[in-house]
Amino acid sequence: MSQEYWGGITEKEVEQIVRRVLAARRYVAPEREKPTGYRISAVKTSFFGQGSVKLLGPEVRKLGARRALIVTDGFLAKSGAADRVRAVLEDSGAACEVFDRVQPNPTVQVVNECIARAKETGAELLTAVGGGSAIDTAKAASIVLANGGKVEDYEGVNKSRKPGIPVAVVNTTAGTGSECTTFYIVTDPSRGSKMAMIDPNCTVAVAVNDIDFMLSMPPKLTASTGMDALTHAIEAACASGANPYTDHDAYWAITAVTEYLPRAVRDGKDTEAREMMAYAENIAGMAFSNAGLGMVHAMAHALGGHSNLPHGVCNAVLLPYVLRYNSRDPEIRRRLERVAEAMRLPEKSPGAVIQKTWRMAADLGLPSTLREAAEGKVTPEAFGALADLALRDSCMATNLITPSREEVIQTYENAWNGKL
Ligand SMILES: NC(=O)c1ccc[n+]([C@@H]2O[C@H](COP(=O)([O-])OP(=O)(O)OC[C@H]3O[C@@H](n4cnc5c(N)ncnc54)[C@H](O)[C@@H]3O)[C@@H](O)[C@H]2O)c1
Ligand SMILES: [Fe+2]
Repeated sequence: MSQEYWGGITEKEVEQIVRRVLAARRYVAPEREKPTGYRISAVKTSFFGQGSVKLLGPEVRKLGARRALIVTDGFLAKSGAADRVRAVLEDSGAACEVFDRVQPNPTVQVVNECIARAKETGAELLTAVGGGSAIDTAKAASIVLANGGKVEDYEGVNKSRKPGIPVAVVNTTAGTGSECTTFYIVTDPSRGSKMAMIDPNCTVAVAVNDIDFMLSMPPKLTASTGMDALTHAIEAACASGANPYTDHDAYWAITAVTEYLPRAVRDGKDTEAREMMAYAENIAGMAFSNAGLGMVHAMAHALGGHSNLPHGVCNAVLLPYVLRYNSRDPEIRRRLERVAEAMRLPEKSPGAVIQKTWRMAADLGLPSTLREAAEGKVTPEAFGALADLALRDSCMATNLITPSREEVIQTYENAWNGKL
């Protein structure tokens, strides 16, 4: 690679970041073509099925926590969701307090407020009730509570020394997979970007995917969070850390989301579709947590941190355009042919997958260009700065090919103009 200076970040710096991230993941050698082994991390106990929230009580008793802090947002605190979890925790003998100040795309400040509340209440267990934002707030707080320092200290891979304080999760979207992943994402407004933390020490103790907490999702939230799950599965299938274990999860999740997400968006009370999406988003989470993500998430983190657009919308709108860029690589093309098979497309080609993901987002009522999605929160003038951030994002390191700054800018521009 040349030493050419791109303005914000040099090619050499990108190369160093990629090597550092891959080396820190340990199970992948610095040369991404030669993995030395694969770590598979999983949540110790997960519950699925309608009504399964009740099973949380005995697990919390086993954890021996006497004081729990419910980490949620204002809407879920008022909707009754947090109260239902509170009743389960109190039945198990844990005293409960509530922190309800989580915001979508949680910031460093939200995490700090959560930490302060946990200290004030002497919480021995954090219980997230919500989607990725509540779950990531709890995961971030648990790491800082156990390890000290500031949340910013943990940006990157494997930065903490010991496991966070126990976290239980009742997931309410489908979704991020955060209830089962070794990732958490926190927005740093001072940089206008998201920090991606990848660390097995943040893995939660117990996760509940009970669709009684998901049925209230309106169609647009169902669609955007479901497209996040599809992006996880496709990026995991194409990532440098993919292996037979993660492929098994990734391709299964691609089939399930393709089949059940349109049904869940069309009819939010379709319990079979909701149930299958609850499995699919979790299984997609297992796939990417262990294989890595790629350029869609790297660009989505930069975009979401800058604009506060919903994470699922950022992914849905970028996915086909990034796949178009990535499909210049023969190995990615080969994997996309398998993705086409998993989607049960008549034509088994990368082009068919690109068209399908674009069409799917449009049919689900999501924007199909960045211009349409932007709502005045982002303009093309920002693309240079966003490209610098995307190239530094931990998720870029597991994209099989590393784009240049110009190529990232071009991909944002293609997404903006709908140039597929
Ligand atoms: N840790 C990970 O592995 C991981 C992976 C992907 C994304 N993320 C992060 O997760 C966050 C996004 O999470 P998300 O997409 O789940 O959304 P979210 O948690 O931000 O929730 C979005 C909105 O939906 C509402 N909501 C949640 N559940 C609902 C329900 N059942 N009914 C009605 N409304 C409901 C919330 O109140 C909120 O206003 C982002 O910050 C993203 O970066 C994390
Ligand atoms: Fe995601």
